[in-house]
Amino acid sequence: AAPIITIDGPSASGKTSVARLVAQRLGIPYISSGLLYRAVALMCLLENVTAEEIEHRLGKYRLELHPTPEANRVLLNGKDVTESLHNLEVDAVVSAVAKRPGVRAYVNAVLRELPGPFVIDGRDMGSTVFPEAKYKFYLTASPEVRASRRVPERDAAYETVLAEILRRDQADATQSAPAKDALLLDTSHLDLDGVVQAVLGHLTE
Ligand code: CDP
Repeated sequence: AAPIITIDGPSASGKTSVARLVAQRLGIPYISSGLLYRAVALMCLLENVTAEEIEHRLGKYRLELHPTPEANRVLLNGKDVTESLHNLEVDAVVSAVAKRPGVRAYVNAVLRELPGPFVIDGRDMGSTVFPEAKYKFYLTASPEVRASRRVPERDAAYETVLAEILRRDQADATQSAPAKDALLLDTSHLDLDGVVQAVLGHLTE
């Protein structure tokens, strides 16, 4: 079977950047599962309803994820909403949305349809969605390091971003336990290329 590589970890641990570069090196697609949770969070903002309410309205939406080598595009009822998924408004509601069992089932169904091979990042890719994956990684870094990495991606001050990361760590704790067979990599003292090399170094055929 085509290999699946899972890269999980907390907010701003670098999992998406690492997944993208590892996939490019291997010549296979990468997939960011968080984009789908972010798309459901966007549905809440668009409809002005709570996470609980959106769980009952998922049938109104057709959610598609299109992996390209450079980026993932997310379509909601045929409209590309990718550029609306990474901001503090979505950050603020996404954990509550991701806690809903119906939302997790909805997202996981989209993910399980994707044909391998691919590198996929998220929180529970190795533990729950792709337990059979051939290679599993779990990236960590201190909250301070993660906040510094995220500041350039948000229009906000370091303290705001750090507070948001600490809040989301707590909110996401239940769905973020590393798979038992994942390799833990503390990236606090590694740059992006260092992490990519560490991951590639563990892949053997
Ligand atoms: O990098 P960051 O964690 O900020 O973003 P993300 O990977 O796009 O994930 C956004 C949110 O989606 C997380 O805070 C989780 O609440 C949720 N998520 C999840 O529950 N399970 C996943 N596999 C991926 C994301």
